Amino acid sequence: MQNKSVKKAVFPVAGLGTRFLPATKASPKEMLPIIDKPIIQYAVEEAIAAGIEELIFVTSSNKRAIEDHFDSNYELESLLQKKGDTAKLKLVQHTIPENIVCTFVRQKNPLGLGHAVLCAEHLIGDEPFAVILADDLLDTSKTNCLKTMTDLYKKHQYSIIATQIIEPSESSSYGIIKPQRGQSDNNFIKISGIVEKPQPEHAPSNMAVIGRYIFTPKIFNYLRKTKAGAGQEIQLTDAIAQLLKGESVYSFLCPSKRYDCGSKIGYLEATLAFGLKHTDLKEQFKKLLKQYSLEK
Ligand code: G1P
Repeated sequence: MQNKSVKKAVFPVAGLGTRFLPATKASPKEMLPIIDKPIIQYAVEEAIAAGIEELIFVTSSNKRAIEDHFDSNYELESLLQKKGDTAKLKLVQHTIPENIVCTFVRQKNPLGLGHAVLCAEHLIGDEPFAVILADDLLDTSKTNCLKTMTDLYKKHQYSIIATQIIEPSESSSYGIIKPQRGQSDNNFIKISGIVEKPQPEHAPSNMAVIGRYIFTPKIFNYLRKTKAGAGQEIQLTDAIAQLLKGESVYSFLCPSKRYDCGSKIGYLEATLAFGLKHTDLKEQFKKLLKQYSLEK
């Protein structure tokens, strides 16, 4: 039998984004821009570059802007066409390539990340799939972490979780993996356990889960049975802990710079870093930064 490739990705985007109020009162946090592109578009571009062809957004009320963003906007397009502004026309027409399928499914109750992924089960079927948390913005300029993961999946057919090394004191903000003993290479290792947001004294390692996952469809068997855990939510991490008892689950140590756009300071850092690389703005922006640091 031929090895399967990962062609579908789930984007859980139902969260309320209360950390960014009042900005997120009426618009989705995933639509906050880094310079001129919404956070969700960076995640979608990364997925498409990794070979994903079907995007499944798990949404809630107040998230219609995401659907509109990846749809065509007839009024805007005909206006730009009349003006002959082809550069801007290209920008609005190409939020998503023609061959990519977008599907939207509602998460009716905010029961947690595990529950959000379960809402996409009927659209995944018996296929491997990726889960992408758009809040974790990755710099793909040198390497696309998800692409490496989809390539590894094609070869090995294991579920793969992206991780990064954190300070031990930060463990209570992440899922933390337990590497199986006796493995020398840290980059791609089998994991023997995983815990959601443990206190540092209970953390099994300093390897934290970041928002990129690839799963075999078996994960749904466990998600269906998972009860509310940390934060009274149905945790994806708890289903992974069960999955790895029945089949191999690997960790891939993601080498990309990650920006935690779920926090204000992470969002600010991403804006700073992307501004310093922006083709049209970087020179002016550097000058501004210099000016501000001299004023200090
Ligand atoms: C979620 C996961 C957690 C993971 C994190 C990565 O937590 O539950 O295991 O480490 O994403 O960003 P959240 O940040 O949604 O609280």
